[in-house]
Amino acid sequence: AESPVIVVPKKVTEDEVDDGRKKVTVFFGTQTGTAEGFAKALVEEAKARYEKAVFKVIDLDDYAAEDDEYEEKLKKESLAFFFLATYGDGEPTDNAARFYKWFTEGEEKGEWLDKLQYAVFGLGNRQYEHFNKIAKVVDEKLVEQGAKRLVPVGMGDDDQCIEDDFTAWKELVWPELDQLLRDEDDTSVATPYTAAVAEYRVVFHDKPETYDQDQLTNGHAVHDAQHPCRSNVAVKKELHSPLSDRSCTHLEFDISNTGLSYETGDHVGVYVENLSEVVDEAEKLIGLPPHTYFSVHTDNEDGTPLGGASLPPPFPPCTLRKALASYADVLSSPKKSALLALAAHATDSTEADRLKFLASPAGKDEYAQWIVASHRSLLEVMEAFPSAKPPLGVFFASVAPRLQPRYYSISSSPKFAPNRIHVTCALVYEQTPSGRVHKGVCSTWMKNAVPMTESQDCSWAPIYVRTSNFRLPSDPKVPVIMIGPGTGLAPFRGFLQERLAQKEAGTELGTAILFFGCRNRKVDFIYEDELNNFVETGALSELVTAFSREGATKEYVQHKMTQKASDIWNFLSEGAYLYVCGDAKGMAKDVHRTLHTIVQEQGSLDSSKAELYVKNLQMAGRYLRDVW
Ligand code: 2AM
Repeated sequence: AESPVIVVPKKVTEDEVDDGRKKVTVFFGTQTGTAEGFAKALVEEAKARYEKAVFKVIDLDDYAAEDDEYEEKLKKESLAFFFLATYGDGEPTDNAARFYKWFTEGEEKGEWLDKLQYAVFGLGNRQYEHFNKIAKVVDEKLVEQGAKRLVPVGMGDDDQCIEDDFTAWKELVWPELDQLLRDEDDTSVATPYTAAVAEYRVVFHDKPETYDQDQLTNGHAVHDAQHPCRSNVAVKKELHSPLSDRSCTHLEFDISNTGLSYETGDHVGVYVENLSEVVDEAEKLIGLPPHTYFSVHTDNEDGTPLGGASLPPPFPPCTLRKALASYADVLSSPKKSALLALAAHATDSTEADRLKFLASPAGKDEYAQWIVASHRSLLEVMEAFPSAKPPLGVFFASVAPRLQPRYYSISSSPKFAPNRIHVTCALVYEQTPSGRVHKGVCSTWMKNAVPMTESQDCSWAPIYVRTSNFRLPSDPKVPVIMIGPGTGLAPFRGFLQERLAQKEAGTELGTAILFFGCRNRKVDFIYEDELNNFVETGALSELVTAFSREGATKEYVQHKMTQKASDIWNFLSEGAYLYVCGDAKGMAKDVHRTLHTIVQEQGSLDSSKAELYVKNLQMAGRYLRDVW
């Protein structure tokens, strides 16, 4: 019997209950689609192994409209998998946020999940402090609430090869599922499963005279990742001085009459297109005319879902050029599954074998070296295997991941700029180990954007606002300590605009101290005049700067924090909020360590008490980080 994969739509009718078949629910919390892809891949493979079981793949947000519904429905689950990605400073993905909050912060309910058996696979990056936090916390909470863990939580590490971690974890899962899902009378050994290359059905069209180039949803009731809103570039400025060999752009999106709104501390997601030189190259490698007009479909002609495929959501009909510009990430390193998809379409067998080798366990080290460590892009890999020209349905489903929006901490406050979203964006421009010059998709676009002040025909992009919890204290008298070197200054510029607006409205403000760091006062001290003005007006009580490349020794924000240790301790003792924004891998880690030392020394605490103190700050929402 064919066991269907049901991707559950918004509203689920519980009609397929109790036909005697075993049911497995696979939840995902995904941002860029990897967790969703893994969830679907697990189900594909499980379907082939356990023909009589029924599998559902469910977006955590779609599972329940309200918290009560989560409870009601989860109680009925007996076997579930959770694929959960962790973002930024240990945060859940947007679509898992509501579930996560309810599940981890809700009232104690005892062992109410004692009928549930489950396994969790986490997606994270070991370079970050809160490696796979969401997966770990959900896993612990499940056990606490009575559920039975089938296998240890999978620790997918995107810094290395997350596909390998997934494969290794699955090997632990199968023996457990064999016990639970195989029929007693079934004594056969499960046949090894080889994943089919997922592929859209492609329809080629005569190019219409005019077509809806960018199907945006301005005026939509809510703007989210699926419904961004077209927004014009009103202002653009270079923030570094001409002495700089780098670049940092100040950009203002006009959001008047768009329906978009934001709060100080939020993020903006920006969708932009690949550079035209990149699209040119991709076109050449695919080998079809750029004006080829086509659409991709996840179902057969008769409307039945395409079998056996874990397909990403399709995009609107368009030309190949538009599809390559807007929907294909061709500059990231290809995943192993992409190599296999290329191999399946390589006409030269030597190339096919080499691609398969790179994706195999035996080729692990070479994949790590030749692809990951050398930052080899998908385009570079396709150049090296010229006979591998996948058809469009394969290319967009299995080779090139979808181009993702880029997120920026908004650097303005709606109290100061209600019709504008300001962004502060450092240019990404670097030479990779393979010798390619890597130009960041979005930062290059911002640097080259044409603002309204220069032309009626200005640049624009689809954008949306992502809510954050990076907020000023609700009581403006509470002291704030802000640490934001480089573009980490962005949200604090918003905070200070907000405080200035409050001050002008006659509100009494508590102390605010800002630690800012850059290389050289004359080169990359961004928004210097504005910061000085915040000090003069009293929105900022003290500006502490660290210039890392002026003197003989490096001065970093954390060194300045150490010099101000007793002030920081006194403010914290008065209930201050402490904020850190910027680079997660280096700066935020070092600042965290410094904070720990300050607490330990100033509070005369031993190391574990100091750790507890910092943890409590975090739990109380008084130590907030916006890091990347
Ligand atoms: P550097 O580039 O001279 O090392 C903004 O990027 C500022 O942050 C720069 O002055 C940069 O200094 C500094 N920086 C780099 N690594 C840091 C770290 N681990 N902690 C704090 N600041 C750091």
